[in-house]
Amino acid sequence: MTTTMPKDTRGLAGQTIGDTEICAVNQTSLIYRGYEIADLAAHATFEDVAHLLLVGHKPSAAERSAFAEELASLRAIPDGLKRLLKEIAPAALASHPMSILRTGVSYLSHFDRDVEDHSPEAELRKAKRLVAQIPTIIGYGQMVRDDRTPVDPDPKLDHAANLLWCMSGEPPTELAAKVMDVSLILYAEHDFNASTFTSRVIASTMSDLHSAVCGGIGALKGELHGGANEKAMEMLSEIHAFVSAGSGNVDDFMQRAFAEKRKLMGFGHRVYKQGDHRAGILRSWGLKVAAERGPEAQKWFDLGDAVQKIMLEQKSIHPNVDFPCGMTYYAMGIPVPQYTPIFVASRVTGWAAHVMEQHRDNRIIRPLANYTGPELREWRDG
Ligand SMILES: CC(C)(COP(=O)(O)OP(=O)(O)OC[C@H]1O[C@@H](n2cnc3c(N)ncnc32)[C@H](O)[C@@H]1OP(=O)(O)O)[C@@H](O)C(=O)NCCC(=O)NCCS
Repeated sequence: MTTTMPKDTRGLAGQTIGDTEICAVNQTSLIYRGYEIADLAAHATFEDVAHLLLVGHKPSAAERSAFAEELASLRAIPDGLKRLLKEIAPAALASHPMSILRTGVSYLSHFDRDVEDHSPEAELRKAKRLVAQIPTIIGYGQMVRDDRTPVDPDPKLDHAANLLWCMSGEPPTELAAKVMDVSLILYAEHDFNASTFTSRVIASTMSDLHSAVCGGIGALKGELHGGANEKAMEMLSEIHAFVSAGSGNVDDFMQRAFAEKRKLMGFGHRVYKQGDHRAGILRSWGLKVAAERGPEAQKWFDLGDAVQKIMLEQKSIHPNVDFPCGMTYYAMGIPVPQYTPIFVASRVTGWAAHVMEQHRDNRIIRPLANYTGPELREWRDG
């Protein structure tokens, strides 16, 4: 007689499956190697956080500038990848930018001399190259999609500003660069979330960093995980269209969604039940961008507030970081399908840190399954 798993343990809910020194996700705090996320968002840069996660400690001033300079020097991508991106990235094709990015990372693996070397030194070298090159792939792909001439990365720009530059060919405002930097800090790491867990499972077979990052990209793409930042904005656009067409007000839309048992994108979290504090940090920066851009940007935050209020009052479900992210990136003029690739540009630091940690003290991750299929039977009888 077989029985199914209790609902509350499905999806490994509530189960601790390993140790990590990298990150602690608690109800009221998110800590990267001992530093709280609000502290990092207020006082660090993405380069600082990347150093903290990958190298393992807060950089000194000299380490910080050497690290940032090294990242800036590693941004170029091979001509062969540029040719491939011209083939696969045009808007006329069905490829999502996450799939383009996954292919781009896989392509890079073939030319990385360290690809099969799992030593900590080699993994750090590979991680730095990927952190530096992923924004170039994103930017190059977007310019191809827009039918514009791609630009080279600008070594004078910080990581976040360079990402915006590569995607648009326009130097970002100081505020846009700052907000992008903060969002990259907030997205960098989150313990055993689905994509990091995927990367660790891949690493645990003693596979390579590039494979683990490709797997991470695949897991992050889904709308229940990183893909939610795009879907949250699409949902707000749908609500806006519903209201503008005179089909009803925001509450009417929400009641219909509740009746259809629809998942509202950018809400809920496996761990945070009293709210995701990254959301509040990003929202406050998003509001600054909206104030700079004017009423057309501000209206999405007003609509978001109305949705958030109904979710909280009627379902007691809080927004997660992907909800304000959608509105913030929209206010910054970033094309919606690039929201999740930008998440990758940040989370690759967390994935790489976890791959290194996994390889330092490895045991293959191989859980058990609860069999619910037919009783034992004879092939010749059936
Ligand atoms: C994040 C998410 C996948 C977590 O899933 P989970 O841990 O299995 O969800 P929970 O166990 O907390 O859900 C509890 C209840 O709230 C409901 N719920 C959770 N998130 C919801 C949402 N965004 N919209 C509507 N209902 C939601 C669930 O359907 C469930 O209802 P039930 O008990 O009637 O089945 C889920 O909240 C979700 O799909 N959110 C939308 C996608 C998203 O924003 N993802 C980004 C996460 S950072």
